Amino acid sequence: MITKGSMAKRDFLAITDFSRDELKALLACAARLKSGAEQDHALEGKTLAMIFRKSSTRTRVSFEVGMYQLGGHALFLSDRDIQIGRGESLADTARVLSGFVEGIMIRTYKHDEVVQLARFATVPVINGLSDLLHPCQLLADLQTMQEEFGEELEGRRVAWIGDGNNMANSWINAAGQLGLELRLACPEDYEPDPAVLARARAVGNVRLMRDPREAVADAHVVTTDVWASMGQEGQAAERTRAFTEFVVDDRLMTQASPGAIFLHCLPAHRGEEVSPEVIDGPCSRVFVEAENRLHVQKALLVKLMANRPEPGMR
Ligand code: CP
Ligand code: NVA
Repeated sequence: MITKGSMAKRDFLAITDFSRDELKALLACAARLKSGAEQDHALEGKTLAMIFRKSSTRTRVSFEVGMYQLGGHALFLSDRDIQIGRGESLADTARVLSGFVEGIMIRTYKHDEVVQLARFATVPVINGLSDLLHPCQLLADLQTMQEEFGEELEGRRVAWIGDGNNMANSWINAAGQLGLELRLACPEDYEPDPAVLARARAVGNVRLMRDPREAVADAHVVTTDVWASMGQEGQAAERTRAFTEFVVDDRLMTQASPGAIFLHCLPAHRGEEVSPEVIDGPCSRVFVEAENRLHVQKALLVKLMANRPEPGMR
């Protein structure tokens, strides 16, 4: 695929779109951007179109502010405003937007829509969350882990508690790429995507179990997410019943490694998947994690849209 800048275009639809070395370079760039060691207007005059078919606080604001800080501009395109909301195809939308902007971010339901958009766009496409994956959040989570434990993440133990959702699938992808030891405790019928799981299981560092205490034992990171994701609101009551044993509270955190941290992509439901004393307590890094969306996505935007190596990778 040839882009406007005549370089091969890259998309970021999944953590697995980047090699281990690329992920490490991206995280190093994010750290430099965060520290202020690098300031870059690499995207001057460039525009990111942001298609939102679901709500967002962090994703919208971090991408919009990130583009501004890089000297560029971001367009917020909600489903209610643009013609895809009235049935215009993603293929046509991709081709039209590619004539106006240098990158497209999409948040939607079906992962296949993200894939379709990337297929027909001639500019880079970023997955800002689908029902299957949330790779941008994982980049921020990995940055937060590095800040806590140092650059080398291989062998770090992560416990996922609860729904086998888009975040769980993205942790599985990250474990496969970076050698994390990932244990997921999920109830029956709420397990991660079988294809995502099968690929990571081949690497051998991802285990699925039922008991949250077993998953958390000696973990460096304990993480969870809401029981009903966007689009699943109608299943909230049955999900609440299925997940009652999957609460991250102080008692569970004491099973983790000393110095373990708690992560949550947010928004959170205090008193459901996580107790207030954990999310608002000393182990919690959730607001650092949220802020890191900005830094790591700036590194991502530069990598994909600048048509030159990202800052510090020259
Ligand atoms: N974590 C996250 O993606 O948050 P938003 O839904 O607010 O974008
Ligand atoms: N799993 C959640 C993540 C929100 C950022 C959802 O998809 O709604």
